[in-house]
Amino acid sequence: MRNMRMPMARRRAIAVVAAVLLAGSVAACGNSDTGSDGGDDGKIVLGFSQVGAESGWRTANTNSIKEAAAEAGIELKFDDAQQKQENQIKAIRNYIQQKVDVIAFSPVVESGWDTVLKEAKDAGIPVILTDRAVDSADKSLYKTFLGSDFVKEGRLSGEWLIENKKDAAGDVNIVELQGTTGSAPANDRKKGFAEAIAADPKLKVIASQTGDFTRAGGKQVMEQFLKAHPKIDVLFAHNDDMGLGALEAITAAGKVPGQDITIITIDAVKDGMQALADGKFNFIAECSPLLGPQLMDLAKKVHAGEEVPPRIETEETTFTQEQAKEALPNRKY
Ligand code: AHR
Repeated sequence: MRNMRMPMARRRAIAVVAAVLLAGSVAACGNSDTGSDGGDDGKIVLGFSQVGAESGWRTANTNSIKEAAAEAGIELKFDDAQQKQENQIKAIRNYIQQKVDVIAFSPVVESGWDTVLKEAKDAGIPVILTDRAVDSADKSLYKTFLGSDFVKEGRLSGEWLIENKKDAAGDVNIVELQGTTGSAPANDRKKGFAEAIAADPKLKVIASQTGDFTRAGGKQVMEQFLKAHPKIDVLFAHNDDMGLGALEAITAAGKVPGQDITIITIDAVKDGMQALADGKFNFIAECSPLLGPQLMDLAKKVHAGEEVPPRIETEETTFTQEQAKEALPNRKY
């Protein structure tokens, strides 16, 4: 009986160890809902993985997110993936390891996200998709999507073309500069445009290739198109930057952009709007990059465990040359 009794000092030591272990497990449980208890100063910590800096649109989007985070009192961790999916996956894994409160990202391509999104979900960190969507069948892997209706942008471009070419005699030859292969805006804009122009059989896409959403890509691919196809009537570029690059190739080939070749683009950033107002472009479907303030509201809501709509679309418009002249002085980006 006597031998079984533990000395007082040993019992105290065991009690201290048990108390430390209990405190540790309570803290761990507290972290599991949100991934962290906020930054050092109690701010919400948002880890954001950006696609890159490929276009004027992207620069405006990055600025909007950085400014809105500062305004909303959210601590922003920002990573530029340089248009590479592996860099985005690495950044998201870093954010999980750092136990940020919320992760947001603009996925460079649509496929291949399930594993890393599941890792975020298992760590209890809510994810918000901005600008571009993913094709994951499991919608519980992210809280919401905030961005544009890219199919609609393509469709509005095609509908304008049908109206603009309704009196044209003979085939209308179209070349298409696609965005980044596998990205939601490239897939969806192509689809929306093709569906719309199917209503008029004389409108024919004779060549379609990626220019990766960059000016350099747009210029280089347009040069190839011009060499390969003596009769090009229309250029449909999936963004302003590729259209602006193509302008250089068209001018160098001795053609007048906006007259010899009708040019339709998407975005409506300042440089694109200037080209439209100057008569070098003919039509732009708007895609707004100013997602920062809405993203910060959503980050606060999902961090607080509030329900948010599964999809939030930005309101957008279209511009003709006359409308661009009017809008340009007050254009924010
Ligand atoms: O995802 C939005 C698209 O990405 C924009 O239209 C384009 O300019 C950008 O690079």
